[in-house]
Amino acid sequence: MRITILKRAAAVLCLAGGSAMLMSSTSDYAIKAPGPWVAPKAADTIKNPFKVKGNAEAIAAGKKIYESYCVPCHGPKGKGNGVAAAGLNPRPADHTSAKFQSQSDGAIYWKLTTGRPPMASYATTLTVTQRWQVVNFMRTLAVDYHKK
Ligand code: HEC
Repeated sequence: MRITILKRAAAVLCLAGGSAMLMSSTSDYAIKAPGPWVAPKAADTIKNPFKVKGNAEAIAAGKKIYESYCVPCHGPKGKGNGVAAAGLNPRPADHTSAKFQSQSDGAIYWKLTTGRPPMASYATTLTVTQRWQVVNFMRTLAVDYHKK
């Protein structure tokens, strides 16, 4: 499983590298990081189905998914320092930061459903339920959580 993910990450990197080479053949500038990634306002209204009921089970299931699919880039504690993170532009987000945690569940769900290069969309890789399980697990990555 993990090997498949790393291969996929590598394929994404190759694609990114390829377009960088195309660009540098015509001009010499480095790839600029895009601006902050902001979910559309409407995403805030998407309801988290595990908010009240079954949250502990959802978090446990989400942890397993995160470890298989997200840790290669986002790191074992979600700090954005996974083994595949070094060459990525922009860098994988820090899921422990107050800024990340300040957005709505719906916005986080929308981002991992939609993706933005070099991060893939998880709309087909993960079911709706699995994506919500991961969102609920990501809440436990908040900086304070690790201090407790
Ligand atoms: C190939 C590496 C890679 C993998 C694998 C990956 N991500 Fe990401 N992720 C990124 C990068 C890079 C960004 C920053 C993208 C940007 O800012 O444009 C990001 C950003 C995000 C964001 C938005 C952060 C913000 O600032 O609001 C979320 C949410 C996210 N990732 C969740 C996940 C989840 C959940 C998984 C696993 C299911 C995952 N990612 C797997 C590379 C990855």
